[in-house]
Amino acid sequence: MSAQSTQTQTAGGWVNPLRDPRDRRLPRIAGPSGLVVFGVTGDLSRKKLMPAVYDLAHRGLLPPGFSLVGFARRDRADDDFARIVRDAVAEHSRTPFREEVWRQLAEGMRFVPGDFDDDTAFKELRMVVEELDAARGTSGNYAFYLSVPPKFFPKVVRQLKRHGLADAPDGAWRRAVIEKPFGHDLASARELNAVVHDVFAPEQVFRIDHYLGKETVQNILALRFANQLFEPIWNRSFVDHVQITMAEDIGIGGRAGYYDGIGSARDVIQNHLLQLLALTAMEEPAAFDAESLLTEKLKVLRAVRLPADLGRHTVRAQYAAGWQGGAKVPGYTEEDGTAPASTTDTYAAVKLGIDNRRWAGVPFYLRTGKRLGRRVTEIAVVFQGAPHSPFDATATEELGRNAIVVRVQPDEGVTVRFGSKVPGTSMEIRDVTMDFAYGESFTESSPEAYERLILDVLLGDANLFPRHQEVEESWKILDPIEEYWAAHGRPARYASGSWGPVEADEMLARDGRSWRRP
Ligand code: BG6
Repeated sequence: MSAQSTQTQTAGGWVNPLRDPRDRRLPRIAGPSGLVVFGVTGDLSRKKLMPAVYDLAHRGLLPPGFSLVGFARRDRADDDFARIVRDAVAEHSRTPFREEVWRQLAEGMRFVPGDFDDDTAFKELRMVVEELDAARGTSGNYAFYLSVPPKFFPKVVRQLKRHGLADAPDGAWRRAVIEKPFGHDLASARELNAVVHDVFAPEQVFRIDHYLGKETVQNILALRFANQLFEPIWNRSFVDHVQITMAEDIGIGGRAGYYDGIGSARDVIQNHLLQLLALTAMEEPAAFDAESLLTEKLKVLRAVRLPADLGRHTVRAQYAAGWQGGAKVPGYTEEDGTAPASTTDTYAAVKLGIDNRRWAGVPFYLRTGKRLGRRVTEIAVVFQGAPHSPFDATATEELGRNAIVVRVQPDEGVTVRFGSKVPGTSMEIRDVTMDFAYGESFTESSPEAYERLILDVLLGDANLFPRHQEVEESWKILDPIEEYWAAHGRPARYASGSWGPVEADEMLARDGRSWRRP
């Protein structure tokens, strides 16, 4: 019996009488499909992708014949891909490791060793895909995940085309999943895009910005557009400014090869932080679908205005040696693989304006840094003071600004900060907070961003994937800042374990504001 024939239409839409209508899990199980991962033994794949695939299997969200094909260079004699993936899953999966789940997943696993310009390996890949179609009923539906350095993107997509893997058989689909960085500036992003779109149609391409897969990030839209409480004050009449912070306590670890010369602004402001800005500032989409979201995000990104004086309203800096978690840590240029005279930023702060009726005059301060005091990502919407206070000035001496803070991670939730009377005989008003914490309000734990995004790729749900127009708009915002920095000396310095350079504090102080200390 087909799925359709089990459904009956009611005034409320299609209902499947065999399903419990309260179970929101069932409609989001992927249909027959497989995933091909290029770079399957790489860092991202081992730490995030393979564990996410396992977690989806564990949660019963993958189809029974789901197949996973790992493509990777074979450069060690003892390469045993299945073991590498198993170890990675056992170490990094969110859900408990269960032998029977692993065994079922492993039955549909194949590995193709080879280089990206190795035609024989791609021929084998094609044969493997066809074999899986026949043996496991994947129906020709495949997503190709390029978990490889961007310099290999062109080669891999061309090979997919050359070997007929990019073209879906009748009634089936083929999708390409690409990881950031999508270029290192506007021109390179456009070039990359041209190569990808030469092979895949726009709707076949899924660009991963894993921040959009985070529950708390998706919740920005729920908070704003499913409630009546916030939206009436979410504008220039009430908001003083917005601070978007992505602070990390880790350094660059073993990633110098990627990071040196790229820096924090290209690494996370161009994508994660500008996406957070777009979701925070955009207008309500006509519907919760990919097109409507793209329309609104693009509108707001196009309205972003850079400050006239980039020297005063942007800061970049690099971490120096310091102490973190009780241990002495090296400075950026002492890390393995960085150039001794590197000017790469590991910290960046920028002030942006948004030229539209809702936000005119409201600064959006974005900052990110590695080796900061602690790991925290949040969006703080900080409100103006009350227009008038009937209380003595002394009563409100300790009252700060009202704020709504979306706590993206690690302490996921939302905080509302406002003033309250301190118990006692006199009128004294102090800040208090009202907190919503995911852990307390929901019994379900949040899926990892990659679980959500991989499932969405298999389902063809593009809501949470930036389109190339957004990527280009974001580079248009960042390129002039990077050019300015490149032409103006060296980055400032900050001690590891601190909250960034004094220059960033001064930048806000000049506007009569200060950074939050989350
Ligand atoms: C990645 C950046 O996109 O995001 C990394 O390349 C960064 O430099 C990482 O560490 C942070 O992700 P998360 O999910 O831990 O905040």
